[in-house]
Amino acid sequence: MKVKVLILMGSDSDLPIMKAAAKMLDDFKISYYMTVSSAHRTPERTVKLIRDAEKGGVQVIIAGAGASAHLAGVVAAHTILPVVGVPIDSSPLEGVDALFATVQMPPGIPVATMAVGKSGAKNAGILAAQIIGLSDKKIAIALKAFKKKMAAEVVRKAKKVEENFS
Ligand code: RP5
Repeated sequence: MKVKVLILMGSDSDLPIMKAAAKMLDDFKISYYMTVSSAHRTPERTVKLIRDAEKGGVQVIIAGAGASAHLAGVVAAHTILPVVGVPIDSSPLEGVDALFATVQMPPGIPVATMAVGKSGAKNAGILAAQIIGLSDKKIAIALKAFKKKMAAEVVRKAKKVEENFS
């Protein structure tokens, strides 16, 4: 697995959300491998993917899951790579279950837990870029440009509101 980031999700039903992480990595031109593996339904496959990722030089693992979302925690249990968790609102509890399951890790096994849903997936991609940017100048420069663009967009919107309501 000769990529920088491994993106895992518990089910293909998580894909519409997890695409937001992939999109950010595409924007920053960071290579990734994205697939489905479940902590509960395919535990051995999950461990094999982690081992392959480590062997191939992956630097960050993003793991998104819904319901009783143990995927990010199980991944973190098997590696010293940084793990970014995305809780997904795919059950009747609307993501609260996944958030608690992902964020409430016992001391010693951290998971960098993002917001629930699409914003969290987007931020997972950005956080992965920030981690990789520590040792990759091109990515660091792209991240700075991304923040500048975001700030300019807010100023543009502010001006529009001021023009219409002041
Ligand atoms: C979790 O259960 C998955 O991450 C998904 O969010 C949820 C539902 O999975 P499916 O029944 O749609 O496969 O493990």
